[in-house]
Amino acid sequence: MINVNKIRKDFPMLQNKTQQGHPLVYLDNAATTFKPQCVIDACNSYYLNENANSHRGDYDLAFKVDTKVDEVRTKVANFINAEKQEIVFTSGTSMSLNMIAFGYGFKFLKEGDEILLSEAEHASNVLPWFKVAELTKATIKYIPLTKEGRLTIENFKKTITKHTKVVSLALITNVLGFNVDIKEISKIAHEYGAVVVCDGAQSVPHMKTDVKDLDCDFLSFSAHKMCGPTGIGILYGKFDLLKIMDPLMSGGGDNARFDMCGNVAFLAPPAKFEAGTLNLEGIYGLGACIDYINNIGIDNISSYEKELRKYAINKLKSLDNIIIYNETADAGIITINVKGVFPQDEASYLNSKGICVRSGEHCAKLLKDLLKTVGTVRISFYFYNTFEEIDTLYEALKNGGDFLDAYFN
Ligand code: ALA
Repeated sequence: MINVNKIRKDFPMLQNKTQQGHPLVYLDNAATTFKPQCVIDACNSYYLNENANSHRGDYDLAFKVDTKVDEVRTKVANFINAEKQEIVFTSGTSMSLNMIAFGYGFKFLKEGDEILLSEAEHASNVLPWFKVAELTKATIKYIPLTKEGRLTIENFKKTITKHTKVVSLALITNVLGFNVDIKEISKIAHEYGAVVVCDGAQSVPHMKTDVKDLDCDFLSFSAHKMCGPTGIGILYGKFDLLKIMDPLMSGGGDNARFDMCGNVAFLAPPAKFEAGTLNLEGIYGLGACIDYINNIGIDNISSYEKELRKYAINKLKSLDNIIIYNETADAGIITINVKGVFPQDEASYLNSKGICVRSGEHCAKLLKDLLKTVGTVRISFYFYNTFEEIDTLYEALKNGGDFLDAYFN
């Protein structure tokens, strides 16, 4: 059970009012989430008490930081049921996906190989693959989606071939919020000898993730979408794959030795992928956010968000002026338009009522043909949102088009 009133007291941002004096109704959690005080304190504690570099210093202060980095790596591994040496600290999902595309894809793909994506993917899971395809002469193929935007196993089976070497998909897509059956995808992809890259940016913060059960080969996610700090994220890879792929970046901390002839001996993963000083403050905060989420319970978070979604969908459906693009989706993401209103204008109007939503294409620019619209308004929940906030949204949307003359088709 979620005790939302108690939880909300943990978040300084939720105590704020907007410039116009409205309570802040933050419904843009797919973009980033608010941070509880314990996460802010953990980040500060690095600077206040333990400010040293990691894996370089021979003094107590530096050992404390090494120990913390190690502890947080273990926490992350336990959170997704991985092994500690399979967890690489990165700056976020986009960096993790680029590391996979260039470190694995660029190294192993060749002309005629296929990379499977879907039109619902976020730019960070499309653009690195475009570049890798250009460099290797591999081909990008898209798994057709249903009319509503779902990815079905049937369509996946129709698209995969013996030339498919990489399947890269979000477990929950960031605009439509549909769940993709990565477990079944992995099973089929592996029969074809392809690796599965899972973009977990919108799923790991909201539902239990077990990489062993999913059997995906890679997983990426970001701390800031799960109440953690910005600038820190995770690349999970099966250890055997991390061993053979190349680091995208190299430098201090990732090698055992190098010589003047250009020979380099990289350290074993994960160190091989962690050149340069880590985002240590971010790692401290990430550890605290995992503890915080574990305390609440990820299953409680999932079921509460489902309740919020159900409540919101029922309310929105009662409004004649609203188009809902993903009524049957699984996650706490609801994508809408107000008839006759340009999405950015709607978002600005909602802003005037203290309601924060995202509008536009949401970085998923391949989706516009499927949705047949130039943009949408996206409402996205987290476990600190309330039913009352949905009522506030509903009241605002009732009048959502009256004041605007922008015509949106
Ligand atoms: N990827 C984030 C979103 O969907 C920023 O809003």
